[in-house]
Amino acid sequence: MPEKILVTGANGQLGKSLQDISRSCTDSCCFVFTDIGELDITHKGAVMDMLHAEKPDAVINAAAYTAVDRAESDEETAYLLNETAVANLAEAAVATGAFLVHVSTDYVFDGQSSVPYTPDHPVHPLSVYGKSKWAGEQAVRRSQAHAAIVRTEWLYSPYGNNFVKTMLRLADSRDSLRVVNDQTGSPTLAEDLARFILGIISRRQEIAGSETFHFSNRGATTWHGFASEILRLANKNCPLFPIPTKEYPTPAQRPNFSVFDLSKGASFLDMDIPDWKESLRKSMPQILYNYENSII
Ligand SMILES: NC(=O)c1ccc[n+]([C@@H]2O[C@H](COP(=O)([O-])OP(=O)(O)OC[C@H]3O[C@@H](n4cnc5c(N)ncnc54)[C@H](OP(=O)(O)O)[C@@H]3O)[C@@H](O)[C@H]2O)c1
Repeated sequence: MPEKILVTGANGQLGKSLQDISRSCTDSCCFVFTDIGELDITHKGAVMDMLHAEKPDAVINAAAYTAVDRAESDEETAYLLNETAVANLAEAAVATGAFLVHVSTDYVFDGQSSVPYTPDHPVHPLSVYGKSKWAGEQAVRRSQAHAAIVRTEWLYSPYGNNFVKTMLRLADSRDSLRVVNDQTGSPTLAEDLARFILGIISRRQEIAGSETFHFSNRGATTWHGFASEILRLANKNCPLFPIPTKEYPTPAQRPNFSVFDLSKGASFLDMDIPDWKESLRKSMPQILYNYENSII
C-alpha cells in the first residue's frame, strides 16, 4: 500500500516542490495537496474533519505566515498561522495517528553563535516571525504528536517570490545592486528540503515521540555571496556591491549567523547533503524559465 501524505500550504515554495517530486513517486506515495482553499489550517474543525476523512499516514505542514517584516506589525496573524494553526494540526495528528512534519526556521536563533547551530542549541528569536515559529514548535512538542520538526533557512525555488528571483529582477531593472555582506547562512533549495522531509517520513518508525532536525544545503555564504553566484550563473552583468546590514534597515531584526550543524539529519538518513552552489546551478534553468515567463 502506498503511503498517504497530506500536504498543507501546497501552493508555497515547499509545497510546489513536493508537488514536483510527487509526479515521479506514485508507486511509493500518494499525496493529498491542500492550500488555504481546500484546508484553512486556522479552522480547527476543518483540520480535524480533513484528517479524519483522509486518514493520512503523514502530514507535512508547508503552510506558514512567512512575511517576516510584515509580522512585526501583524503579530496576531503571524501567531494565528504559526502557532494556533500548528496546534490544530498537531491535535488532529494525535487524534488520527498521523506522523506530523512541521517546518520551522533558523530565525528561532539570535545569530550570536560562532559555530553551526545544533538542533538542541538554546533559542532566542529576535523577531515576531521567529517568536511565532518557536511557539509553533512548542505547540507540536506539547501535543505529544509523533512528529519531526525540521528547521530550514534561506529557502528558494522556481516558485513564489524569493531572494533568487528578486536578484534577477533587480539586476534587470537597476544600474547596480547593493547587498548585505555581514549575515551568513546557507541557501537551501526547496526541492532538496522536500526530499529530506520525505526521507524522514520513510524512517519515521525510528523516531519515538518528536525529534528536531536542521536541514539546509551544505556550505555557507553571505547574502552578497549568494547574489554574486546568482548573477554569475544567470549571466547578468549588473555591478554588485557589499553593504553592512545597517545600510539596509528592515522592520524585523535578522540573525547575522544562521549556519546549521546538519550532522543529525545527515546521519539519520545516511545521506550526502548537496552543496548550496551545486543546487543553485542545478535549479537555475528552471528558475530562469519561470522568471522570464512570469510563472510564480
Ligand atoms: N522562505 C524561507 O526563506 C524560509 C526560511 C526558513 C524557514 N521557512 C519555513 O519553511 C516553510 C515553507 O516556507 P515557504 O517559503 O514554502 O512558504 P510560502 O511560500 O510562503 O508558502 C506558504 C503557503 O501557505 C499558504 N497559507 C497561508 N495561510 C494558510 C492557511 N490559513 N491555511 C493553509 N495554507 C495557508 C500560503 O498561501 P498564500 O500565499 O495565499 O498566503 C502559501 O501557499 C514555512 O514553515 C516557513 O516558515 C521558510
